[in-house]
Amino acid sequence: MSSVSVTSYRALSRVDMAALRTGMDSLIDAALSAGGRIDAVGGYARPVATSTAIALFGLPSVPPADVAAMTRVVFQYTFLDIPSRRAVVRRGEQGGALLRRWLGEEIDRRAAAGVPGVDLMGQLMQDGQLDREGVRRALGGMLVGAIDTTATAVAKILKVMGRDRALQDQAARAAHDGDNDALSGWCWEALRRWPQTSLLSRVAAADTVLAGLKIPGGARLVLLTEAAMNDPGAFPDPGRSLPDRQPGSYLHFGGGLHPCGGRSVNAFQIPSLVGGLLRRGPFTAGRIRWAGPFPDVLPITWEGGR
Ligand code: HEM
Repeated sequence: MSSVSVTSYRALSRVDMAALRTGMDSLIDAALSAGGRIDAVGGYARPVATSTAIALFGLPSVPPADVAAMTRVVFQYTFLDIPSRRAVVRRGEQGGALLRRWLGEEIDRRAAAGVPGVDLMGQLMQDGQLDREGVRRALGGMLVGAIDTTATAVAKILKVMGRDRALQDQAARAAHDGDNDALSGWCWEALRRWPQTSLLSRVAAADTVLAGLKIPGGARLVLLTEAAMNDPGAFPDPGRSLPDRQPGSYLHFGGGLHPCGGRSVNAFQIPSLVGGLLRRGPFTAGRIRWAGPFPDVLPITWEGGR
């Protein structure tokens, strides 16, 4: 793991997650206070994840809609549509320039005031291992992956639960009982049926043998995580949804030396977003409208229009 990753994860472990969660819970309550229908992506998961990211990364003065738009174009450019289309490149570069400016200005402002703060930006500044440019890069790299990933995972979980009423009812019971472990288990099982990430890639660092297959050093590997999460060797009876599987066996957030840097946030944010909707009562999930590779709109309607 690189020293930037080690420093970032150390700083992340010092952030007050309970405070972050309290802020997120009140946003969830506010978003769900209106009528019997909601857009679970554009009117719920995406704005809540954006506010969590703003609080975590430390960009209080940037309008949330701008942060959400920026992360989307930079994420698409960086990870999903590798410079194939001119419009994706243009938007990605514009977004990257904004991200650089917003983070740079906030870091400079805090440094000048001598008040680094207690969010991730502040923890990285206090840690002292990275200079201002290093702090900016570390934050930018993490922030870009924080919003549409969360909204996509929530949308997919809701669609799976919308199609499987028994699964939805069991998850709803866990949500009503305040059983967070079981609620998370149902969420990870629903996501196993339609993962947010279905493959990962790696480069072999050295010659090795995997399950009898010789892999030369330098080989590019595509790891089919969706298939792996349906392997009976690791997920006994893989066709059944079982909420008490070992959390460590899922590959939703990658694994090995480079797992997702947002795992500690994902662990509560995704189940909390799904749980908020489940507690309102049985729902129907409509059609997802996509914006390129990202779910953009997902109508959720509660029975009886509650
Ligand atoms: C607060 C939210 C999040 C943050 C800050 C975050 C941050 C990151 C970072 C920094 C990495 C790169 C890790 C590395 O290369 O060392 C990463 C990788 C990854 N993230 Fe996230 N992420 C977030 C949310 C999510 C969500 C919601 C999902 C899926 C549902 C997800 C799935 C992944 C996956 C699959 C990888 C690749 C891991 C691998 O290659 O093994 N992330 N994330």
